Amino acid sequence: MSSKILVVDDKQMMRDSVATTLQRSGYQVVAAADGNAALRMVTRHRPAAVITDLKMPEMDGLELLARLKKTDEQLPVVVMTAYGSIDSAVRAMKEGAFDFIQKPFEGDQLVITMRRAVERFELVRENAALKTHTRSFQETPVLIGRSQGMRSLAQQIQQIALSQGTVLINGESGTGKEVVSKTVHAHSPRRDRVMLCVNCAALSSSLLESELFGHERGAFTGADTLRKGRFELADGGTLLLDEISEISPQLQAKLLRVLQERQFERVGSSVSMRVDVRVIATTNRDLAKAVADGDFRQDLYYRLNVLPIELPSLRQRLEDVPLLADHFLALVAKREGREPKRFDNEALDLLTQYTWPGNVRELQNICERASVLTKGQVIAGRMIEPWLVTATEPEEALGGVKPLEVVQRQQILHALDQFNGNRQQTARSLGIGVRTLGLKLKKWKEQNLVAQSV
Ligand SMILES: Nc1ncnc2c1ncn2[C@@H]1O[C@H](COP(=O)(O)OP(=O)(O)OP(=O)(O)O)[C@@H](O)[C@H]1O
Ligand SMILES: [Mg+2]
Repeated sequence: MSSKILVVDDKQMMRDSVATTLQRSGYQVVAAADGNAALRMVTRHRPAAVITDLKMPEMDGLELLARLKKTDEQLPVVVMTAYGSIDSAVRAMKEGAFDFIQKPFEGDQLVITMRRAVERFELVRENAALKTHTRSFQETPVLIGRSQGMRSLAQQIQQIALSQGTVLINGESGTGKEVVSKTVHAHSPRRDRVMLCVNCAALSSSLLESELFGHERGAFTGADTLRKGRFELADGGTLLLDEISEISPQLQAKLLRVLQERQFERVGSSVSMRVDVRVIATTNRDLAKAVADGDFRQDLYYRLNVLPIELPSLRQRLEDVPLLADHFLALVAKREGREPKRFDNEALDLLTQYTWPGNVRELQNICERASVLTKGQVIAGRMIEPWLVTATEPEEALGGVKPLEVVQRQQILHALDQFNGNRQQTARSLGIGVRTLGLKLKKWKEQNLVAQSV
């Protein structure tokens, strides 16, 4: 669908003639007779460019320009100046106009100027979209670990990176699914192309659909501009679909088609687009079980599970804990521009005996918290002990000796603490729904089993 241009002129003849020329070249046009109407229309129609007369009663073109720049710095504004009034053209350019055009002008000249303006706007917007979503992927990922599990993982990543196949990464929360996916991309032939990420659990089904596949202008209420989806924007690169188990049956069908045929349509369009995107999906649920339970399409599961990566939990590779701890302490130190602190022997014993329900992320949090709270250079065991909730209880005892609900309550409270009370993150880390978490907490509060402030 074509881009929209706003034409502003107090003289109707001029307005109409500019509008008609632009419409004939395929643009959608909205028009305003004065500055205030123009400002309202920008909010309502979100044009890709504005062309305005300079001389207008009430608000003149320069003032309109200044106010438009305040609302949206990127919106290109072209000013129309009277023949011979080069001064005002120069002033407008100084004030941030994208370009000027002297009256009288030919239709071609108008169309060429406006096409440049629109293209600039679209380029800027696309870059901004890519930037916000790739920021975290800019730095080269590091994967720390010398355990057998990590060594074979590193080997597996090297092989998988070279192939083009879809990757399915499975692992508990905080085991490093995102770092591993970045590493795969960084070692792949696509490393110089973009890598984008979509969290499938964070959006409603319809929002996720337009996030993934984009939408046409007017495809649904509120869709007032064309929007490219992540599949389109990631063309040539890699797309990470985080928490894939959470997508709706309807989207599962659409995703299956992209994976099978590399084709899809924007929401509200019947035109198929072809893309070359490598998909990496992650999950902390057992997808095979979700298939057996009827929650996840079997055919989609097979399409995703071409190259599976199974991440070991941190408690399965406790020998990596000191190494990881050093790495995280060094990171904090670097950020704060000082020498890294270190754990004393007692602390290291505790850390290497703990069961790590929150895996590497939990260890990272503890390292950061301990660095901040310790005054000297050495972090003492007694400082971190209270944070390691299950540290004194051997893993086997968790389900056996204590009633399951007690264990569950401890885990949940611990996770809540770890995420500073953020229920969304807590629920995610535990692999349960936010609603389930809310209901559990409500029940426990009623029974006075947890603090009312939780
Ligand atoms: N092997 C590793 N070496 C260094 N850092 C790691 C490693 N594994 C994980 N991390 C760090 O631990 C944190 C959590 O990792 P990540 O976000 O990749 O986990 P995840 O499995 O995607 O978690 P979630 O399921 O909660 O999304 C990140 O800060 C990451 O950099
Ligand atoms: Mg993740």
